[in-house]
Amino acid sequence: MRGSEIRQRFLDYFAARDHRVVPSSSLVPANDPTLLWTAAGMVQFKPYYTGAAKPEFKRAATCQKCLRTPDIENVGRTARHHTFFEMLGNFSFGDYFKERAIPWAWEFVTRELGLDAGRLWISIYLDDDEAFEHWLKVGVNADRIVRLGKDTNFWEIGVGPCGPCSEIYYDQGPERGCGNPACRPGCDCDRYLEIWNLVFIQFFRDETGNYEPLPNKGIDTGMGLERVAAVLQNVRTNFDTDIFREIIDHAAKLLGVRYRENDSTDVALKVIADHTRAITFAVADGVLPSNEGRGYVIRRLLRRAARFGLLLGRETPFLDSVAGAVIGQMAQAYPYLVTQAEHVQRVVRREEERFRQTLVQGVDILNRHIAQTVASGGHKLDGAVAFKLYDTYGFPLELTVEICGESGLEVDEADFSKALEEQRERARSARQETEYLSERDIVYRKLRDKHGPTEFVGYDRLSTGARVIAILSDGEPVDRAGEGAEVEVVLDTTPCYAESGGQVSDAGWITGDGLKAEITGCVKPVEDLFVHKVLVKEGTLATGALVDVDIDQARRLDTCRNHTATHLLHRALKDIVGEHANQAGSLVAPERLRFDFTHYQALAPRELKEIEKRVNSAVLQNLPVKTDIVSFDEAQALGAMALFGEKYGDLVRVVRVGDYSLELCGGTHVRNSSEIGLFKIITEGSVGAGLRRIEAMTGPAALDYLVAHDEQLNEIAGLIKAPVREVVGRLETVLQNVRKLEKENEQLRDRLQAYEVLDIINQVEDVAGAKVLVAQVKAREMPELRGLVDLLRDRLGPAVIVLGTAGADKVNLIAAVAKEHTSRGLHAGQIIKEIAGIVGGGGGGKPEMAQAGGKNPARLQEALDKARAIVNSRLA
Ligand code: ALA
Repeated sequence: MRGSEIRQRFLDYFAARDHRVVPSSSLVPANDPTLLWTAAGMVQFKPYYTGAAKPEFKRAATCQKCLRTPDIENVGRTARHHTFFEMLGNFSFGDYFKERAIPWAWEFVTRELGLDAGRLWISIYLDDDEAFEHWLKVGVNADRIVRLGKDTNFWEIGVGPCGPCSEIYYDQGPERGCGNPACRPGCDCDRYLEIWNLVFIQFFRDETGNYEPLPNKGIDTGMGLERVAAVLQNVRTNFDTDIFREIIDHAAKLLGVRYRENDSTDVALKVIADHTRAITFAVADGVLPSNEGRGYVIRRLLRRAARFGLLLGRETPFLDSVAGAVIGQMAQAYPYLVTQAEHVQRVVRREEERFRQTLVQGVDILNRHIAQTVASGGHKLDGAVAFKLYDTYGFPLELTVEICGESGLEVDEADFSKALEEQRERARSARQETEYLSERDIVYRKLRDKHGPTEFVGYDRLSTGARVIAILSDGEPVDRAGEGAEVEVVLDTTPCYAESGGQVSDAGWITGDGLKAEITGCVKPVEDLFVHKVLVKEGTLATGALVDVDIDQARRLDTCRNHTATHLLHRALKDIVGEHANQAGSLVAPERLRFDFTHYQALAPRELKEIEKRVNSAVLQNLPVKTDIVSFDEAQALGAMALFGEKYGDLVRVVRVGDYSLELCGGTHVRNSSEIGLFKIITEGSVGAGLRRIEAMTGPAALDYLVAHDEQLNEIAGLIKAPVREVVGRLETVLQNVRKLEKENEQLRDRLQAYEVLDIINQVEDVAGAKVLVAQVKAREMPELRGLVDLLRDRLGPAVIVLGTAGADKVNLIAAVAKEHTSRGLHAGQIIKEIAGIVGGGGGGKPEMAQAGGKNPARLQEALDKARAIVNSRLA
């Protein structure tokens, strides 16, 4: 049974039992800041178990793409470990419990998949007699049920729903086992393969590790697709299933090796296949290689896979081609991979190229250190070396550990961590942005807990009355702030938008009884608490006082224009360059907007023009901007581009611009696209691997920009005396004329030179049958002087030539003696040597040609006279 068939049968089986088949969610948990990756099927459903969100269905089934990295070292070395894998799961949210989950699971594996019941074993949580009874009921023998403890039979992932679990194991036979008579399910060896885990969700684990019983119990199950396929296809390892073979075979062909010929080649091929699957899916889900978080995991996986390629002698990048095989293998189940293929392959290729450049140097350095360590009898590589490799050569620590391990060395990881922490500390203190110390965070948190969140009224209003809740001076609460004081102010209500989501804060004024204070910025150091940065200009600001708050309307409106335009730009970009162009960062300020997005090459001028046109067309269409507060689910159903940092159960704000754009966004916007007025792209450029940036302007700023250009154009038109519409044609003519004049000029120079040559030739003397020319000529640089000598030699035939030029403060001398005359004792080098001293220089050369420079033009004639004397005396 092929992997695709198992997948389909599973979903069909549960669909027939009233389960909603839900698509796999992204590998990046869109709704769970506590998790780096989606590592289980239940991740997307967490809030359904707690009741924080209400699903439209109480039963679901999925085939979920998952990524787990703790087992990375085992990948390729065991039959069953992966980073990326697919998990089949059925779920109940307060609906059925053990009484159904157990019989269904049993029926599915024994009937649908046809696994031999005689080979199946069950594990249950220590005191779970209820599960025990249900297993007996379906016909499992009591001696096939083992009771295991919390380490294996209690399932939890971060903060959230969890519970005891029960697993189905497949006995692969004693020949795959460790031989220990006590070997049972739960043993680390390969004999008993865990294929399916049924979790009986009944607790909520909070941040502090407390378990609260949940009001409604639920079911969460997970069956590893690759493992089940291996059992059904009767192959030794997951890598031998159809799911992997195509990828492995493709990689083997690229690398010119054969699978199943020797163990170390096999490990390499397995690692390459496994890691490339993970990289492909993660990049398709919007992750880019970097030095932090998810990006770092992907970088690590890619570098590890690339290194195994190197071990097999591969000298050029190849992982993009393996990624192509992954996409081909998975396209049917995950059609979106095909639309992302080009993006994925480019990202992979660039990253691998970059890695190969530094790797070669890094490996050399590492090998040297390993040799030194071994030679001096050490067992540990210095942590500082590992850090340098990490920092300068991009070596993931794990890679260094692995390479060292091959020579039996460990790495001093404590030292490494110390160096890493020190570097982070340096980076932190170097950053000069508004960063709040954690003691301050405590102050803010206390304020919020005591007075509640700030009420933000700024979506609808630009001014309000408010009460001063607290004034902080250097982080310390104070009662009053007098003229000139710079303080932080918390109000009960504010119209002032606090910097977030890329949008800068509002600015404005706080006024009251004799009080005038300027709001220069506003931040939210802890959730829902608005902290205004305030400069008191007149009077006194006092805690408890009632004040008026007004924000700068022009600044706000310009910011709104840029924010709405950013959404339009995002949409237009996707329309023109493709859906992979995802937002990677943005700045929305009153005077401009900046938008970073994923794309692998510069935009063509034609694309930029088209994008600009689309945005402006949306502006001109007068599209209403509507904001709605909806549940996270509704937002996703509407097709909103998900943003990180939103939590399930949160109500989210959806911003729609007509039918053209829809995004989750907490920012402020114009009410109608026409208020944007005008959209103009100013620049487009690269900001990193696979990342581009567009800067643009709207409204008055865009107009000013265009007006300034217009003025410049007028000025140019004035200078070349042409109407603006003819400027280009006229400029072309002018430039053509310039080129023509330059050419004529050159010809004239050549002719002048010819006259000069004639003039010089008149100075030739005959000395004892030899043509001798000693002359001062017009100032020239040395190369031209040599050119002149060549010209003279052409005209004169065999001759003795000595020329000198005098510039403002320097002299050039050159001497040429025809071969015929060198035999008469003339040596160009010697002549130059003797006369150069006179003009304060030095030089020399060969018998036939020599040159020198000097610093004293006043004595040039003297030097030439001397040259003449030398020549005459030699020839005489
Ligand atoms: N969430 C459970 C697991 O991943 C089913 O094993």
